[in-house]
Amino acid sequence: MLKNDPGNEVKLKIYALFKQATQGSCNTPKPGMLDFVNKVKWDAWKSLGAVSQEEARQMYCDLIGSLVEKEGGSSAQVASQPAAGGTAFNTLLLTRGDNITTITLNRPSKKNAITDEMYNEIIAALEEAAKDESALTVFTGAGDYYCSGNDLTNFTKVPEDGVEAMAKRGGVLLRKYVKAYIDFPKPLVAMVNGPAVGIPVTVLGLFDLVYATERATFQTPFSRLGQSPEGCSSFTFPKLMGATKASEMLLFNRKLTAVQACDLGLVTEVFPDSSFRAEVWTRLKAYAQLPPQSLALSKQLLRSVEKDRLHAVNDAEVELLVERWTSDECFNAVMSFFQAKAKL
Ligand code: COA
Repeated sequence: MLKNDPGNEVKLKIYALFKQATQGSCNTPKPGMLDFVNKVKWDAWKSLGAVSQEEARQMYCDLIGSLVEKEGGSSAQVASQPAAGGTAFNTLLLTRGDNITTITLNRPSKKNAITDEMYNEIIAALEEAAKDESALTVFTGAGDYYCSGNDLTNFTKVPEDGVEAMAKRGGVLLRKYVKAYIDFPKPLVAMVNGPAVGIPVTVLGLFDLVYATERATFQTPFSRLGQSPEGCSSFTFPKLMGATKASEMLLFNRKLTAVQACDLGLVTEVFPDSSFRAEVWTRLKAYAQLPPQSLALSKQLLRSVEKDRLHAVNDAEVELLVERWTSDECFNAVMSFFQAKAKL
């Protein structure tokens, strides 16, 4: 049970998702004008349109999970079942339905910050998704954030063999992580459900479609953290948006709204927050009915044009970052993030 009343809007969302998950799309007659309460409930259910029962179940779990997390509980209590035959992950949900595999980043209380464990689980989830029957693979985040980037506590646990060895291991993991996106053989879609900071933004240049809620923002504050760009953004961003716009983001930490990111080509389309999931899901369900082999082979053809280049860019970015991670600039910036939090 929730300790705090989440408010009428959220309660209506919960009601609508529950109905959609258990009974499918709204098929009951519209209540009369004067039946205010039932009319509002009916509208909420109807607004979910053709969202599948499986997706509604997932959205219901995500919503309840984020509410429980906000109250200091654990979203694991409501995490959905792993995809049939698939691996159970600690930091992700991997679900399948409607010919689509969905990877949901699932640490909402930490704004889905990516720990080392989560990097490894995303790599494993991408490997599974590459081999399954689904036509599309979708990334999204649980709760109000899409993802807040590298978990900065990754930098605070200095092992016995020292900072340099830690940075080298971080470099191996990062290289493998970005490689998993470069080599991914099927269309990859980002459903950016809220703000995104750092690496979840930079890898967007390696996605085939990026749909964002109007509430999303996009920021890569590398220089503020004494670091440097990754995710092949040093190549994909200037190509997408032009050199000076890319520099404003990658060097000077400029934060973009969803609409600005769309104007610059980083985002494909922006949706109103209230109908974001329903609208995107309706569209993706239709795309996922296209012949999967044709989709995969066409994506691979498009990627083949610059695949070697992307691998070389990834290597160069990782090399610089490994050096940056051992710098005083980086150490001081990470320490001040946690000191600022401690003072609150
Ligand atoms: N690494 C580690 N912890 C993170 C994190 C990150 N990247 N992002 C968020 N968190 C944690 C916070 O420390 C906090 O933990 P706590 O509840 O134990 O104190 C929790 O997630 C919620 O974040 P909070 O900062 O309280 O929420 P907010 O809405 O005020 O701010 C952010 C959200 C994302 C703007 C802010 O947390 C932030 O700036 N994070 C760092 C982002 C970053 O620099 N990423 C690396 C990019 S290269």
